[in-house]
Amino acid sequence: MDKILIQGGERLVGEVIVSGSKNATLPIFASSLLAEGENRFHGVPDLKDGKTICEVLKKLGVKIGRGQEGEYLLDGTELVGHEAPYNLVKTMRASILVLGPLVARAKKAIISLPGGCAIGARPVDLHLKGLEKLGAEIQLRHGYIEAKTKGLRGAGIYLDGPTVTGTENLMMAATLAKGETVIENAAAEPEVVELAEVLNKMGAKISGAGSNIIRIKGVKKLTATEHTIIPDRIEAGTFMIAAGVTRGNVHIRNCNLDHMEAVVNKLREAGMEILREDDGVRAIGNKRIKSVDVKTLPYPGFPTDMQAQIMVLMTLAKGLSVLSETIFENRFIHVDELRRMGADIKVERDSAIVNGVKGLSGAPVMATDLRASASLVLAGLAAEGQTEISRVYHLDRGYEKLEEKLARLGAHIRRVKG
Ligand code: UD1
Repeated sequence: MDKILIQGGERLVGEVIVSGSKNATLPIFASSLLAEGENRFHGVPDLKDGKTICEVLKKLGVKIGRGQEGEYLLDGTELVGHEAPYNLVKTMRASILVLGPLVARAKKAIISLPGGCAIGARPVDLHLKGLEKLGAEIQLRHGYIEAKTKGLRGAGIYLDGPTVTGTENLMMAATLAKGETVIENAAAEPEVVELAEVLNKMGAKISGAGSNIIRIKGVKKLTATEHTIIPDRIEAGTFMIAAGVTRGNVHIRNCNLDHMEAVVNKLREAGMEILREDDGVRAIGNKRIKSVDVKTLPYPGFPTDMQAQIMVLMTLAKGLSVLSETIFENRFIHVDELRRMGADIKVERDSAIVNGVKGLSGAPVMATDLRASASLVLAGLAAEGQTEISRVYHLDRGYEKLEEKLARLGAHIRRVKG
């Protein structure tokens, strides 16, 4: 297994280009199940999770080709299969995104139930209840979700919690349902808005995406489209914090600040300079960070996917900060590893209490999930001495060429093939 070695303490300076959003790519790729013809998607990041969704889609009959760098051609004109198998779904829970479009278009879907995962139970009950409201019959058998319908019908759906992939799944399913669907308490993440835009380009009639009420008027068919994926706001935020923890000065290109208000406000409150520039932002961390409290919330609140990274910033801040995690239980698995690097953190139920220290020290550590891994890289960049991160396949799920990008900013970081 590959490892990442970091010799910490270098100030990061220079320019970095953010890749396309992983969490926008996955539902957009799944939407190819709904349309006839060949879709052309640009700005697609080269990530393990992208490859996994392609494997799932190929099994269902979607033809997938590659164009220029970052360009993917997906043609779902002729669907053949109905099944997303356990061996693929277990490596990526977001494979569940094929359920809604598949049952809408092929009227039948058999999808492995996603198993437990490192950041908590993560059920899919809201996806299933919503599909039942739209007229799908659902059974759970032998570890699989079996869904079938004679034809979906529009309905009113109230989500008990604003689930992101749940909203996306139901929005996709409703595009081909007969009549109008209204999803209340819908997720408002930029990736949901992006998916709605792609579906509308395909001929869907969706309004309200980005608010908590989404209306979808069903249409008879969708046809393929062309689209460029939005920048990854979590990758951009990770680079901002990399500048903060190394007291660096980084020009982050292909970054949409309008999607990042909660993160940018917190970083400014913590004393970082975040300046809007052409095609992105400049992040400067030229003084000791001040402690700030952070609570993760659904969009437009502070994203749970940035909690582990801002925790690293707080380990180096002056004073005490409280980070509350309200989205996922058990999302503090990075804490033990950060402690091994000298961080002073106590966990009490859903809060981590971080007492800032003057410096971290490099150590061998183990990555446990995607964003936890990113936090270990950030800690390694800031730490004195060498950090060796094992199990970096988690990072490859969601960060494109991370070590190359950081090395270009001056980090002493390299991958050792295992
Ligand atoms: C998506 C993102 C992930 C991010 C998360 C929260 C993708 C591919 N992944 O994950 O990176 O961390 O949003 O912003 O976009 N829940 C239920 N029942 C359900 C569905 C969800 O109880 O049927 C709960 C979850 O346990 C969790 C909360 O709702 O507590 C939010 O989860 P959800 O928004 O669904 O996360 P994902 O869509 O899986």
